[in-house]
Amino acid sequence: MKYKEIIDELTLEEKELLLTGGGALATAENKRVGIPKLTMSDGPHGVRRLLKHPNPDYEQICNIGGGDVCFPTASALGSSWNKELLYEIGSAIAVDCKEEGIDVLLSPGINMKRTPLCGRNFEYFSEDPILSAELGIAYVKGLQENGVGTSLKHFALNNQEIDRSSISVEVDERTLREYYLKAFELIVKNAKPMSVMCAYNKIGGIWCSENQWLLDYVLRKEWGFDGLIVSDWHAVHSPSKALAAGLDLQMPKNSRIAEELTYGLENGIITIEDIDRSVERILSFVYNLKSGEQILKQNQEKGTYPYDRNKQHNIAKKAALESITLLKNENNTLPISREEYKSIAIFGTYAEEPVIMGGGSSKVTVSEESIDKPLDYIKRYVGNQTQIIYESLFDKIASGMKIKQRIHNIAKEAELAIVFLANEPECEREGIDRDRLTFSEYMNEYTKEIGRVFKKMIVIMQTGSCTASNGWEHRADSILQMWYSGEGGGSAIAEILFGIENPSGKLSETFITRIRKDMDYPGDGTKVWYREGVFNGYRYYDKYQQDVWYPFGHGLSYTNFEYSDLQITPENSDNESQKVKVQFKIKNIGNRAGKEVPQLYVGKLDSIVLRPEKELQAFDKIFLLPGEEKILNFELNDRAFTYYNTYLRNWHVESGIYNIMIGASSQDIRLNGKYKVYWEKDYSGIMKNEALIL
Ligand code: BGC
Repeated sequence: MKYKEIIDELTLEEKELLLTGGGALATAENKRVGIPKLTMSDGPHGVRRLLKHPNPDYEQICNIGGGDVCFPTASALGSSWNKELLYEIGSAIAVDCKEEGIDVLLSPGINMKRTPLCGRNFEYFSEDPILSAELGIAYVKGLQENGVGTSLKHFALNNQEIDRSSISVEVDERTLREYYLKAFELIVKNAKPMSVMCAYNKIGGIWCSENQWLLDYVLRKEWGFDGLIVSDWHAVHSPSKALAAGLDLQMPKNSRIAEELTYGLENGIITIEDIDRSVERILSFVYNLKSGEQILKQNQEKGTYPYDRNKQHNIAKKAALESITLLKNENNTLPISREEYKSIAIFGTYAEEPVIMGGGSSKVTVSEESIDKPLDYIKRYVGNQTQIIYESLFDKIASGMKIKQRIHNIAKEAELAIVFLANEPECEREGIDRDRLTFSEYMNEYTKEIGRVFKKMIVIMQTGSCTASNGWEHRADSILQMWYSGEGGGSAIAEILFGIENPSGKLSETFITRIRKDMDYPGDGTKVWYREGVFNGYRYYDKYQQDVWYPFGHGLSYTNFEYSDLQITPENSDNESQKVKVQFKIKNIGNRAGKEVPQLYVGKLDSIVLRPEKELQAFDKIFLLPGEEKILNFELNDRAFTYYNTYLRNWHVESGIYNIMIGASSQDIRLNGKYKVYWEKDYSGIMKNEALIL
């Protein structure tokens, strides 16, 4: 046993005290034996500053003072589709962590987006497990390779905030494995996060914090996770049952832990071996991170130190540039040419006071001066000959009629309107779900009116998740999804508007106009049934040919890309473990440099089980100068062709023909190919009689 000497030195009570926090956001220390404490903070889009609580036993998150760096939120970063960027963000946040004395960042959140209404969707990367996993791997490595621990959360199925602390998710195992657990599995296996945070809810009637199948069997035994399992804050109901199920650290501090665990010991719920095992994991966690500090010091000596606030701001801005997504651009309304307009009207208070993040535990406290205001930067980039007329619109205490009159008057002076819409931070936040998919009614009304009276209208949406137009879509010439784009979003959006930068974000979630009616959400207060199975997001809209507003993976550029020469090698195989090489060319056929995100989807239509028409399996983001061409290579392993077979209780590659699709979005497939695999151990046949159809 590692740390045996220390463990032998500890009394039972001292061991028990190590199994809960030493405060709100720290592990417990033991001064007698010399075990140091670790400090934690949320995540994911920046570090939450901690201030001392008057009670020395506690630390408290403080939302005053400012000074933190606010990077774009996870849904924005998801739309960057840029793994290198995510590594850079992780590394930059690691620098902030050390600046603030934080050892562990409680992130990333990688829950799938089952409903666009989930109040925490802005904290999650995507509706797709592969996109979430690839970005999550890069982000976790960025933090951990710089000496800061991570906590992959919320394991698992915390896909709604309504009733999150009471609801039981009822889901079949195939759906769970293929869709809801997949990103966790891939990140655990490929990035080795130092801790995993269990979720509040129950699965199949058992709290995640007490779910031995989930924590011990799947996470530890199957996936080989050897880090620390931490509870979400106040997610533990019975410390002994949780410990017996595999949970190591109950957060925050439970001052009755020793009493409760001793009761568990005396009544046979747990053994001393259970306690020692979790103490050992806590010691590993603490000492690994304490030695990790050395790594950060060395890296800082190489150049990141002394702390450079501007450098952090520039990384945040770069991330916003990579994330902002151009959804619509009729008649090349964008980019705005500096000489084109005598007068431009800017509408909406969010041009002056952008919404840069959502609410809840992920909220960071940024000083006003660090936040780039879109209006300031628009004024900076617009030509000398152009007048800017700003109308805050949404915070007017005037009547609707008066506002409409004002819109009409401005329309007489300006040809182009740029409208800033937003979901206020408290509308998207932890603990609640949104009650509607659209913007506030008054925002919709004014936007419709602006679209009616102006020659041209550009709409910019500051939201953390899909928020639909309610009647103005067809009146908008261009629509930009700005996301909650962090402190640098204001300058980034102005640079995109004026063509200083070319947009390259692609939607990390499907944008819809109507909520699905066939889904059980939010449940009956006790249970929520995931009857739709794996058919969520684009998997559903593809399968049932339902119209969407903008599809998953969609995002325009100011240039165009041509895809050609798809080659699949081999095209046939008799071995299910065969690696498949997929090669194709992409050329920038426009006259501007730009970035494209080629997406590789795999689908099998003649499957014995119901399968999505296509599923993302690989992607890249590449930069091309005008006229430049690049060859891209992806290698797919057997996992790209599998489904989770509940009969075998394992991943399974069916014999047959697979479609390999290369697209610029999930609905803009540019190249199609086939891969055939026939292999001896295909168990699909024996299942035909077993009625194992989803
Ligand atoms: C959230 C976690 C967070 C924790 C600590 C909980 O309410 O669900 O995501 O890490 O608080 O702030």
